Amino acid sequence: MSIEERLEYLGQLKARALLGGGAERIEAQHERGKLTARERLDALLDPGSFQEIDALAVDLNNGNEGERFYGDAVVTGWGKIDGRQVCAFSQDFTVYGGSLGEVMGAKIAKVMDLAVKVGVPVIGLNDSGGARIQEGVGSLAGYGEIFHRNVLASGVIPQISVIMGPCAGGAVYSPALTDFIFMVEGTSQMFLTGPDVIQSATGELTTMEELGGAHSHTSKSGVAHFSVKGERECLEEVRRLLSYIPLNNVDDPPWVDTGDPTDRSLDDILSIVPGEASLPYDVRDVIERMVDNGAFMEVHEFFAQNLVVGFARMDGHAVGVVANQPMYLGGVLDIDSARKAARFVRFCDSFNLPIITLVDVPGYLPGISQEYGGIIAHGAKLVYAYAAATVPKVTVILRKAFGGAYDAMGSKHLGADVNYAWAGAAIAVMAGSQAVNIISRREIQSASEPDAKRAQLISDYQERLEHPYIAAAKGYIDDVIDPRETRRKVAHALEVLRGKAETQPPRKHGNIPL
Ligand code: HXC
Repeated sequence: MSIEERLEYLGQLKARALLGGGAERIEAQHERGKLTARERLDALLDPGSFQEIDALAVDLNNGNEGERFYGDAVVTGWGKIDGRQVCAFSQDFTVYGGSLGEVMGAKIAKVMDLAVKVGVPVIGLNDSGGARIQEGVGSLAGYGEIFHRNVLASGVIPQISVIMGPCAGGAVYSPALTDFIFMVEGTSQMFLTGPDVIQSATGELTTMEELGGAHSHTSKSGVAHFSVKGERECLEEVRRLLSYIPLNNVDDPPWVDTGDPTDRSLDDILSIVPGEASLPYDVRDVIERMVDNGAFMEVHEFFAQNLVVGFARMDGHAVGVVANQPMYLGGVLDIDSARKAARFVRFCDSFNLPIITLVDVPGYLPGISQEYGGIIAHGAKLVYAYAAATVPKVTVILRKAFGGAYDAMGSKHLGADVNYAWAGAAIAVMAGSQAVNIISRREIQSASEPDAKRAQLISDYQERLEHPYIAAAKGYIDDVIDPRETRRKVAHALEVLRGKAETQPPRKHGNIPL
């Protein structure tokens, strides 16, 4: 064969790889309102930056050459996002419904290995019917190899999953092992078993969307973190997330000149946050005033809304923010919010992102369902995550920090570096209105006017204990501040902490109460 003939042959193979499952299936993909695997990579990555590998990987056991799919059901390679290198794979639903067999499993494992070797994030665009049924154990092995790599890469490189079609079985377990899951509203679903299997197993009737759609997983199960309308918009959000996080665990998060002065006063904060501790407000109004230019990327926005987590910048440096949300359930800590915050704190700690904690919490939620659901163990996750985190930790108590929630929410005792309290803050075991019923019950019952006695005891308690000055006297709070100074105080604390180096006792790993 001449070189010209060889090049023509190569061109034919590449053209077959580009066509995936064929023109008809590509059209069907578009009719479903979905982009193809390659179109998605083009939308995700900087223009012209994608470098494909393994486009010629193929199942040689398929004896019929004409029926072989070059590249199999996934497109893999590397490219750039805002000029920074990433590795990516994009599953191709037009080839066997994006299902995973041996070739596809090996391709994904290979690009993950590359990402770990060079220390860059790996982004998986998922659109897959799960294990390729006709390949039997070969496809299960492929998944196992990917899961193993997901776990070994955890905390080494950021791993991001985007669900862009119906993902079943093994196709959802790998995303569940990654750091963040995005879902596209209306066209993506995640489930271990679909509606038909559920109906035959349990008799329950459901639909794909109700069972595993973006709404279900971002608000009910909490499995997914972001729900976005439209594939291109979703991929744009992935790019935005990347702008806050480093390439790997020994890299610094990217710095951006935001131009927002750190000494900016939060002039209207006193009218935003009511002085009366039981009145609600939206803590995002405080976060947005505190961080650079009000830019806050909320994570898990629709799940456990009594607590807010997300990314922002202070003085141009990326940070993670954790805040109680008095607008929902009074900002109480419960099972879901403890899990949500613990996981976020773990991510920040893995990837060198300082953590700012804004505390306004009445305590842990009492209740039988919470106790039976394991609030003790789930609440302990949050304590564990904060105590184990060695990144800079700055905590501000806005209005109240009661009970175990005071300890859990980034207290000095769990290793926070700088702790502030607003001048109106209350730090105590519980609010006076509850406390007097326990410590002064007999005194109230025997009083000639029990209601008046109770009111007076509450007032005494508030004066004696519901303020930040006992904590400040003991050094648990480093300073009591004017709320308007919050941005300046937090920014300066983060500045001094930039050189922080903390080590913990050597061990194989701790045993977080999973
Ligand atoms: C092989 C598959 C496939 C699979 C889909 N296809 N899933 N081929 N293995 N798992 C093929 C179909 O045969 C079809 O081929 C094409 O992909 C498109 O599928 P449709 O059913 O026409 O599409 P749609 O109606 O959109 O439904 C998509 C779907 C459904 C919801 C994903 O196909 C489905 O339920 N698939 C099976 C899901 C599943 O049970 N997977 C195994 C899970 S077990 P043609 O040639 O017609 O285009 C598992 C174990 C791993 O994953 C455990 C690891 C721990």
